[in-house]
Amino acid sequence: MWSFMLQAKKIPVSELENFKGIVAEDVVSQSRALILPRGSNLSWLSSSAIQRLSARLALEGVENISVYLDDVDLSIEPLEAGNEPKLPVKQINKTLVHQTIKQIGDLYNRLASGEVASDMYEPLFTTGRILAQEVTSSDVITLSLAKVKEKDEYTFVHSLNVALLSGFLARRLQGNDKSLIEDVVIGGLLHDVGKAKIPLEILNKPGPLTDEEYAVMKQHPVLGLEMLNEAGINEETILSVTSYHHERMDGKGYPCQLRGNFIPFVARIAAVADVFDAVTTSRVYRTAESLYFAVSLIIKETNKHFDPKVARELISALGLYPPGTVVELSDGSTAVVISSNPGDLLRPVVLLLYDSEGNLITQSHPIDLKGAPNLYIKRVTGNFNK
Ligand SMILES: [Fe+2]
Repeated sequence: MWSFMLQAKKIPVSELENFKGIVAEDVVSQSRALILPRGSNLSWLSSSAIQRLSARLALEGVENISVYLDDVDLSIEPLEAGNEPKLPVKQINKTLVHQTIKQIGDLYNRLASGEVASDMYEPLFTTGRILAQEVTSSDVITLSLAKVKEKDEYTFVHSLNVALLSGFLARRLQGNDKSLIEDVVIGGLLHDVGKAKIPLEILNKPGPLTDEEYAVMKQHPVLGLEMLNEAGINEETILSVTSYHHERMDGKGYPCQLRGNFIPFVARIAAVADVFDAVTTSRVYRTAESLYFAVSLIIKETNKHFDPKVARELISALGLYPPGTVVELSDGSTAVVISSNPGDLLRPVVLLLYDSEGNLITQSHPIDLKGAPNLYIKRVTGNFNK
């Protein structure tokens, strides 16, 4: 019922208005200027913006553009003009969002009032399996982009997004193992379930927490594990995500100060998803800028906080270029990305490997693409680290 089809199709620029979807390939003018980067989501553009775009493309001599079409209802909350995300993130089905959030809310309420019946988790397990199917059928990150109107709802929408993003990353990193992805998604839905037992005045406190309050807040992974144990839930993946999503690679996380590979891999995935969603939601809205900010933070914190393998997967899924990515530049040469510009992740610093004729460059020096307006990344051709 909720399966989305994704296929790239050539669309004549004169008919752009009739199609919604994500741009599959960079659109470049005859003079080799980048007009529309791949990953741009046409669905977020107003019809007047689409008309302006069509006119510009026609003027530049572009006849067709390649678009991943989808049949999803993308209109939970239309974005304000100028706030269109430019990254490939897709809105998940609205009905499914509401159903999941309601089920998480019901569960939290029942847990907060002291109920321990194991069957109260069942609706979320069923929904988790449907969400896992959604994640598996999409090549782009699927999230709930809905605005959080109620303070109390934040944890529920956040849990849904951690579930979706963790499932997406698990599939890319661990292959298409259906039951693993289902458990990662269900683990994401339940990862903060211990917060049902944290007093609301701490959970929803608008200002910074005192040391004592923070110590209470930090109990939520252990409380969550206890609650799942009480309900007889024993899937290791679900328990790992709930217990260890606040551990850090440098051993400075909580509750167990586990380090590096001692942290279960699924929890390292959830840690990236947790911070990515928390940062984008706490900023004004999920604009492209807030996504870039979140990605910049993750790049900065990789190794100390996050598993580099997981962070790299997220960044490349967003169409960005982490260090080690081998790219073809607009002049036909091949280069490897050596560092990211946090302010402009689409224009990293690169080192040339081959010239446009395919000759190996032996004496290369770094080129900061931010300072080279005529040179841009055309496509990714490989990864040095793989
Ligand atoms: Fe948490």
